[in-house]
Amino acid sequence: MKFHIVTLFPEMFSGILSSGVIGRGVGSGILDVSFYNIRDYAKDRHRTVDDAPYGGGAGMVMKVDPLADCIDAVKIVAPDATLLLTSPGGRPFSQLMASELASEGEMIILCGRYEGIDERVKELYSATEVSIGDYVMTGGEIAAMVMIDAVGRLVPGVLGSEDSAEDESFTHGLLEYPQYTRPPEFRGLKVPDTLLSGNHREIARWRRMKAIQKTRQLRPELIDTALLEPSERKMLLQSEGGQKL
Ligand code: ADE
Repeated sequence: MKFHIVTLFPEMFSGILSSGVIGRGVGSGILDVSFYNIRDYAKDRHRTVDDAPYGGGAGMVMKVDPLADCIDAVKIVAPDATLLLTSPGGRPFSQLMASELASEGEMIILCGRYEGIDERVKELYSATEVSIGDYVMTGGEIAAMVMIDAVGRLVPGVLGSEDSAEDESFTHGLLEYPQYTRPPEFRGLKVPDTLLSGNHREIARWRRMKAIQKTRQLRPELIDTALLEPSERKMLLQSEGGQKL
């Protein structure tokens, strides 16, 4: 999987690329991340990459010309790669998007800065704007790292065991069930008996119920689209004293 990162701050990425699962993926060559510094494509002596917005207003806008030249340079090495642009006004990033991108093999992530980028960049390259949440950061580098992490871990061979991405939050439309490990009791808190029973059917049932209850509590909007058995919906209805789901 190749990530091409267009940014003003490539140094921000050193942590994620050298640590943990993603660091291992990079070390083994399964993940490949290259950087293109927009400032290298600035035209003037001061290497200017931003300017005041036409029409006035606060903040600066990333200039179209250095950005276009930088993207053109990336397109020479990655002509077919999907172009993503980080922006708080973009399409919400999701597990589904991550798995689609993981199957594509190559992507360009353009990290926005300042108040935004000149709109003509989006028109010229039909970039897909992606947001990692409803809040505004000072730039898109952290959003790009989120995408590298969420996409990179889904690339076969990056996670320790092939199936560890199978049974987790969002894969089945539900949040993940609670997990425990040794010791069986800590400061008076016991691991639920079912998990110690060795009865795999009961354990699977317990986990499913806990996942449904947790999702209902923390992310009720996900319950509507989750694939639940009629008996599971009935169980939820009962546990909520007849409240309609
Ligand atoms: N840049 C600034 N805030 C952002 C966000 N929430 N998502 C993606 N890019 C951003």
